[in-house]
Amino acid sequence: MPNPKHIILQSFVFLCLLLQASSKSTIEPCSNSDSCNALLGYTLYTDLKVSEVASLFQIDPISLLTANAIDISYPDVEHHILPSKLFLKIPISCSCVDGIRKSVATHYKTRPSDTLSSIADAVYAGLVSSDQLREANSISDPSVLDVGQNLVVPLPCTCFNGSDNSLPAIYLSYVVRPVDTLAAIAARYFTTLTDLMNVNAMGSTAINDGDILAVPIPACASNFPKSASDFGLLVPNGSYAITAGHCVQCSCGPKNLDLYCMPASLAVSCSSMQCRGSNLMLGNVTVQQTSGGCNVTSCNYDGIVNGSIVTTLSPSLQPRCPGLQEFPPLVAPPTTVARDTVFAPAPAPLFDGAGPASPKSSLVPSAGLPGGFSPANGPISGISSGASVACSLVKPLPTLTNALVLLLVKLMIPVAL
Ligand SMILES: *[C@@H]1O[C@H](CO)[C@@H](O)[C@H](O)[C@H]1NC(C)=O
Ligand SMILES: *[C@@H]1O[C@H](CO)[C@@H](O)[C@H](O)[C@H]1NC(C)=O
Ligand SMILES: *[C@@H]1O[C@H](CO)[C@@H](O)[C@H](O)[C@H]1NC(C)=O
Ligand SMILES: *[C@@H]1O[C@H](CO)[C@@H](O)[C@H](O)[C@H]1NC(C)=O
Ligand SMILES: *[C@@H]1O[C@H](CO)[C@@H](O)[C@H](O)[C@H]1NC(C)=O
Repeated sequence: MPNPKHIILQSFVFLCLLLQASSKSTIEPCSNSDSCNALLGYTLYTDLKVSEVASLFQIDPISLLTANAIDISYPDVEHHILPSKLFLKIPISCSCVDGIRKSVATHYKTRPSDTLSSIADAVYAGLVSSDQLREANSISDPSVLDVGQNLVVPLPCTCFNGSDNSLPAIYLSYVVRPVDTLAAIAARYFTTLTDLMNVNAMGSTAINDGDILAVPIPACASNFPKSASDFGLLVPNGSYAITAGHCVQCSCGPKNLDLYCMPASLAVSCSSMQCRGSNLMLGNVTVQQTSGGCNVTSCNYDGIVNGSIVTTLSPSLQPRCPGLQEFPPLVAPPTTVARDTVFAPAPAPLFDGAGPASPKSSLVPSAGLPGGFSPANGPISGISSGASVACSLVKPLPTLTNALVLLLVKLMIPVAL
């Protein structure tokens, strides 16, 4: 199809010119109202308590800890102070808003001396731009921020059907730092350069400070019924998730990607976690060697339905008896930031100091685009970055239909590679 491709490419180049000087970010068009689990890669801008980080994103402190495999049994762990510059994975729910995937559940209450760019670049570490904040909150004069104003903070996320190359995956929205290379990011997250490029519809391995990449992380999928309130639960490899009102904890990895759930250590008042018709509790497995193989019976978690924990007893005959369940290693609540020696070739303290390396102008060209182009609905695009002149291959444009954007992405991959 040379002709349509040509036309689309031409208009694409045109759009790129219009949108120059904004960083790339990967956008996923969507049409249904479902949501998925997603992760944000967040770097602390200052020392913060676990509970403070959680409240910045309005998430449960326990799920913040378990998503990072931090041991929750430490005394008073919610008040533990996490060090500045620590990198954390923030578990969020990714929904479909105005035709693209994003999270709009986070709000921020402004404090004295906040500016849109300090909120965007420092507090939310580049996950949002000051333009997106301005648009999402219809702020006409960014120089006048009332203290105590409740701002919605649109955050980037993708679902891509909870899979990558047909295997269960969860997507991390990763803000590129000056020291990063695409190869190093791929290595760090056990994926390949090709996969990262495909997922982000990239034509080259070039990345820039402030770009937001969707990084697939292998995950354990659940198979809960649609009626379950935790339907679709995905747990990334090497981590834990807490569900069923803190009653159940599920883990993923390290040996296989089978979701394993058991009663949570902090379970207080929970409905029964025993499998009906047996004396097995959630997570219990009995094995019995028989002549035909190993008779394995496990008591599995099947979601929370109408406030009740659903358990299923599942018998199976396996060639070999399974070993003891292995768990992802837990870490103590961090107090210092490990030097990123593996991924940063030379010590490059580019992020020293309290804020981002250089506060950037809050104006990007898209602000003054002719009608129809203004991202008034706050699509996740264009973190303002003077250094970056690349154009996202999947930038959402209200004037394009989702189908066209998808087509564009599909066409760009073969063209680019
Ligand atoms: C989404 O993924 C599921 C398996 O995880 C698969 O069965 C289904 O076909 C996929 N849907 C699309 C639209 O790719
Ligand atoms: C899961 O993580 C472990 C390390 O924690 C790694 O050894 C393993 O290869 C990962 N599994 C997959 C499928 O990526
Ligand atoms: C069953 O699970 C409970 C809760 O995790 C645990 O305390 C108990 O030791 C397990 N019993 C067996 C037989 O594995
Ligand atoms: C497997 O074990 C279960 C419970 O332990 C038992 O009910 C079932 O009959 C066993 N099946 C076989 C084939 O041994
Ligand atoms: C949940 O409760 C409602 C009413 O309380 C009931 O109609 C529905 O069937 C229940 N769902 C399940 C799966 O039990």
